[in-house]
Parts: sequence; C-alpha cells; structure tokens
Amino acid sequence: MKVLVATEKPFAPVAVEGIRKVVEDAGYQLALLEKYTDRQQLLDAVKDADALIIRSDKVDAEVLDAAKQLKIVVRAGAGYDNVDLAAATAHNVCVENTPGQNSNAVAELVFGMAVMAVRNMYNGTSGTELKGKKLGIHAFGQVGRNVARIAKGFGMEVNALDPYCPDQVMIDAGVTPVKYLDALYADNQIVSLHIPATPETKGSVGYDLVMKLPKNGVLVNTARKEVIDEEGLRKALAERPDIKYVADVKPDNAPVLEEEFAGRVFFTPKKMGAQTAEANINAGIAAARQIVDFLRDGSAPYRVNK
Ligand code: 3PG
Repeated sequence: MKVLVATEKPFAPVAVEGIRKVVEDAGYQLALLEKYTDRQQLLDAVKDADALIIRSDKVDAEVLDAAKQLKIVVRAGAGYDNVDLAAATAHNVCVENTPGQNSNAVAELVFGMAVMAVRNMYNGTSGTELKGKKLGIHAFGQVGRNVARIAKGFGMEVNALDPYCPDQVMIDAGVTPVKYLDALYADNQIVSLHIPATPETKGSVGYDLVMKLPKNGVLVNTARKEVIDEEGLRKALAERPDIKYVADVKPDNAPVLEEEFAGRVFFTPKKMGAQTAEANINAGIAAARQIVDFLRDGSAPYRVNK
C-alpha cells in the first residue's frame, strides 16, 4: 500500500519524518510530492497511491480519475473546500479532515496580525493596544475557541456569533454569545473571521458588514479569501479611512487594495496560519494515523463526505 503526501506548500521536515514513521511502522510505503508547480505532477503521482495526504491542494474529479487505487484522502487541516466531496463519493473515496490539529497556530497568527494592524503596520507612529478592546469572533469552532483563549490573555472583552454552537459553550469559555451578525460587526473594534468557505458563506462579508465596524475597526481574516465580497470590501475601505483589513491569504484584488489603501491592508504572501512545525506535526501525524486506521479496519471518525 502506498501513502502519498502531496503538498504544494510542504510540511516542516520534522512533520514529514513523523508521518513517515507512522506509515512505515504500519508496513506501508510513503511517497512524497512537495512544491509541485504543475498539476500534471500531481496527476502522475496519484496513479498508484492507495491513500493521499494533502493540505490546500485541489483534489477534484480529474485527480480522482487519475488515482485508480485511491481509497482515502485526508486533508491535514480543517477546511476541505479544496476537495470535491461529491466526486470523491462517486469514486468511492473516503475524505477526512483533521479538526483542531492546526487551530492554535491559526489563532496565534490572528493576534500577530491584529497587533500589527493596531500598531499601524509598524510604521513608527503611535497606535493602540488590544487590552480593553472588544473582539468579535465570527464562528466559534476550533480556531475561534483558541482565539478566545488568547484574547483573554490580552485583556480583551470577547464576543462571538455561531448559530451552530450552543451558547453555553461560549459562556463556559467566558465569551458573550451574539445573536445578530450586524451587532457582531457594529459592537467590536476587532472582528476575526473563522467561517468556512461554503456556498452559503462565499462573498458573505462585504460592504454592509464592514461599514458597520466601529471607529478604527479592524477586520482580520485567517479563514478563506472566498468569504469576502472583494468589491464590497474595497468600497467600504474607500468610504471609511479609519478601517483596516489584514488577511492570511491574498485576495484576488490585492494589488488594487494595496495601492489604494497602502498602510491599511496587509496580506501574507501564502496562507501561513498553519505554517508552524507544531501544526504540521499535529495535522500531518493525525492524517497518517487516520489513514492507517482506515486501511486496517475501515474506521473513519472524521469522514466529511457521505
Ligand atoms: C486549514 O483549513 O486547515 C487551514 O486553512 C490551513 O491550510 P494549509 O494546510 O493549506 O496551510
């Protein structure tokens, strides 16, 4: 049995070694395709793979067609919007993610970027502190919960909105549940986005919500670029010179935003939230273990396709 790790953005070497140990100890073979630049390389590499570990790598019907022996794909991470779930089901391929494994890394980056924003992108001028400010967490999943924990250390007042999360979970975490999206944006100087990219959420944060932010509001996006209505954001940034937008992944209109709103926007060159050795080890090894379990007895506790 062959387990292929196909990562356009590679794991830290120490994580790859951990994955290798789990796979080889189980008697399977490990193959690596890192930093590939051409889709054909992926199509060739999956040909004889029984299992696949990916990150944000796109797995669609074409990849699944090429992967004749494939039984399972594990997205080492949280969001699986890069995998065509229906096509995987049609190809009889199980898809899992590794929830929670990289969430602290993403949450820490939220504060790296929030501090940068309130300190005016470190341009030498006087900024503000996070202490005593209100933080609105848009979706209270694993990353949102880690963000809340860290925010307490900064001395922030934390509010969150998540229709899928019981209020009591937030209350137990010292977080105030918010019922209305408008209120989340209107009442919190820093809003941190943690919604997944789904047909319902794509383009759902735009002009109206951004305009609701209080004076000197900061929108932090470590989720997905697709959840933003980019033209709406642009319009809001033009009308509200006090607002900043910092995001862990470049929007499609990044060059325009960087030119029009220099000093008020910041984008990482590549998605970096989960780019830590710890997150790579946690998610990568969890993925390898999930594959070994699945190949042994069919167990798939984190299956995300039907
Ligand atoms: C996730 O969904 O787990 C994060 O966005 C990390 O994605 P990455 O593995 O491509 O860095």
